[in-house]
Amino acid sequence: MAETIALVTGANKGLGRETVRRLAAEGWTVLLGARDRARGEQAAAELGRGVVFVELDVTSEDSVAAAARTVADRFGRLDVLVNNAGVGAPPTIPEDTTADELRAVFDVNVLGPVRVTRAFLPLLRKGTDPRVVMVSSGMGSIAVYADPRLAALAPPMLAYPASKAALNMLTAQYARGLDGIRVNAVDPGYTATDLTGGAGFQTLEEGTDAIIRLASIGADGPTGGFFDRNGDVAW
Ligand SMILES: NC(=O)c1ccc[n+]([C@@H]2O[C@H](COP(=O)([O-])OP(=O)(O)OC[C@H]3O[C@@H](n4cnc5c(N)ncnc54)[C@H](OP(=O)(O)O)[C@@H]3O)[C@@H](O)[C@H]2O)c1
Repeated sequence: MAETIALVTGANKGLGRETVRRLAAEGWTVLLGARDRARGEQAAAELGRGVVFVELDVTSEDSVAAAARTVADRFGRLDVLVNNAGVGAPPTIPEDTTADELRAVFDVNVLGPVRVTRAFLPLLRKGTDPRVVMVSSGMGSIAVYADPRLAALAPPMLAYPASKAALNMLTAQYARGLDGIRVNAVDPGYTATDLTGGAGFQTLEEGTDAIIRLASIGADGPTGGFFDRNGDVAW
C-alpha cells in the first residue's frame, strides 16, 4: 500500500509538533507546516525521518497557495490534513472586546482552516481515504457553557470561544458538503503549551490522542463529529 501523506499546520511547536512526531512514528510522510521558515526547518530537522518542512502562513492566501503547489509538485496528493494552527486571545470581558480583536483571532482560527482546506482539496481528492481534522476546543462548545459547573471554569470572553464555535460549524458543513472526505473536529483537552502559558493538566501526548485517532480513521470512520480523547463531545 502507498505511504500515507499528512499535512499539519502550525506544527513547529505544541500540539502540532507532537502530532507530526506521532504520525511520522507510524511511518507516514508528514509535512510540518509552519509560518516561520527558521522555526519550521529546525522542528523538522529535530523530528527527522519522514518529516518535511512546508512554509505555510494560514492567514495568507499566497502562502497557502504556494504550499499547495509545493505539495502538488513533490507528492501529487494528500491523504490527511490537520488544521491545527491557532491562536489564543487575552481574556478580555465581552463589553470591552472590539471587533478588531475578534477579526485577528478569526483570521487564524476560522479563515485559516477555510483557506487551507480549500487550497488542498484537489490534492485530498487524489488521496487515499482522505480526511480532515479540525483542531477545535471544548471552549467552542455551547453545550459546555450551558452547564454552569463547566462555565464557571472560564470567565466570559468572546474571541477564542466564538472562533472555535465557528470552526465547529465549518466542520459540520464541510462534512455534509465534501463527498468522500471525512471531516471531524477534535477537542485536545487542556494541555500545557505556549497557548495556555504552560498551564494545563495534560501532557502533549494526551493532548494529541484525539487528533491522532481522527487522522488515522479509514473509509468506515466517522465524519461530521466532535471528539476528545474519551469519545464524543457535545456541540
Ligand atoms: N493547548 C490547549 O490546551 C488547547 C486546548 C484546546 C484546543 N487547542 C488548540 O490546539 C491548537 C494548537 O495549539 P497549541 O496549544 O499547540 O498552541 P501553540 O503551542 O501556541 O502552537 C500554535 C501553533 O500555531 C501556529 N500559528 C499561529 N498563527 C499561525 C499562522 N498565521 N500560520 C501558521 N501557523 C500559525 C504557531 O506558530 P508560531 O510559533 O509561528 O506562532 C504554533 O506553531 C490550536 O488550534 C488551539 O486552539 C489547544
